[in-house]
Amino acid sequence: MLNKDTISSFNELETPFYYYDLKLLEQTLESCRMAADKFGFHVHYALKANFNEQVLEAIRKIGFGADCVSGNEVKKAIDLGFDSQKVVFAGVGKSDKEITEALNSDIYCFNVESVQELEIINGLAAKLGKEARVALRINPNVDAHTHQYITTGLEENKFGINQWELNACIEQLKACKQLNLIGIHFHIGSQITNLEVFKSLCLKVNELNVWFADHGYQLKVLNVGGGLGVDYHAPDENPINDFDSYFTIFNQFLERRNDQEVHFELGRALVAQCGSLISRILYVKNGLKKNFLILDAGMTELMRPALYQAYHKIENISSLSVKKIKYDVVGPICESTDCFGKEVELPESFRGDLIAIRTAGAYGEVMSSGYNLRERVKSVYSK
Ligand code: LLP
Repeated sequence: MLNKDTISSFNELETPFYYYDLKLLEQTLESCRMAADKFGFHVHYALKANFNEQVLEAIRKIGFGADCVSGNEVKKAIDLGFDSQKVVFAGVGKSDKEITEALNSDIYCFNVESVQELEIINGLAAKLGKEARVALRINPNVDAHTHQYITTGLEENKFGINQWELNACIEQLKACKQLNLIGIHFHIGSQITNLEVFKSLCLKVNELNVWFADHGYQLKVLNVGGGLGVDYHAPDENPINDFDSYFTIFNQFLERRNDQEVHFELGRALVAQCGSLISRILYVKNGLKKNFLILDAGMTELMRPALYQAYHKIENISSLSVKKIKYDVVGPICESTDCFGKEVELPESFRGDLIAIRTAGAYGEVMSSGYNLRERVKSVYSK
């Protein structure tokens, strides 16, 4: 949360920067851990949401595993002390080099996304004389009812193995002596706020769990991915997700044997609310029909609004004016999509005022870029 003392500590700092409330992060992690522990569920944090080292340190300390989507993420997680036996590696396009390095690091499991990938991992594992644990990422064809760019569970996606390919997978696995099939993996999309969607996912997982048992595979792991959404509209009212309700759905609807483990890959719900992008107003442009606030942060620091028309709450944390004005809040980048919000009602704002763009801890800093030769965005942490 951005209280008065925190805000006044920003006055001396050069903007823009990401501010991370590490206390809120710890509370969020603790609340997730307690809720997951109740059912013996395993949580892997999806590094892609935020790989800031201070954030990762808090996550490592709580004991979560790591869900990685590149060789560098695998390396980072292990270098920072995540247990390699809690590292899973997903991604539709793992290179030979990435697979080899992951095999050498003895990670827990590859989430395999195509029939051909099975053959490739098998060949590379054979070269090293190793066995690779794999889970099949299956496309369950469940609609996540979220933004079209971040839904991944429908059949037309590039992700995962389609159900009509499962027989081919079984055939391939029989020929792959270095592979040990330990589980099935799903991820249907991100920023899912309707928990009913997860119930549909559970029903699909149950069907497939039975299918594999019928084909002679007693799977150890059911990995249901991530996707739990956060409240972008009311970050102060809902700073921490209701993890109890989320995990309860899976406990209630997943039919699993006693020795079967349930794994999760949460990203956004763990880190989104602890981060804000803090920026200064460079210019105020008053037009005939529109007023613009031009910030010193842009899509190069936070890409989500430009890329997905995503909503982030915008606050002027300096102005005390009671006069309200509607502004288009934009960045300095030479692209018209470089806009954080249109017609945003704010107190009358002036050059030099600080603007906070909230709920930016997930897919914020990690997606920043050097476009326009911008400087790398800095980070500031709560005490
Ligand atoms: N597991 C897999 C296989 C994934 O693809 C993802 C996210 C996650 C877990 C974590 O999902 P989460 O719990 O964070 O929803 N850049 C977009 C989001 C892309 C999500 C990609 N996959 C955004 O800014 O909204």
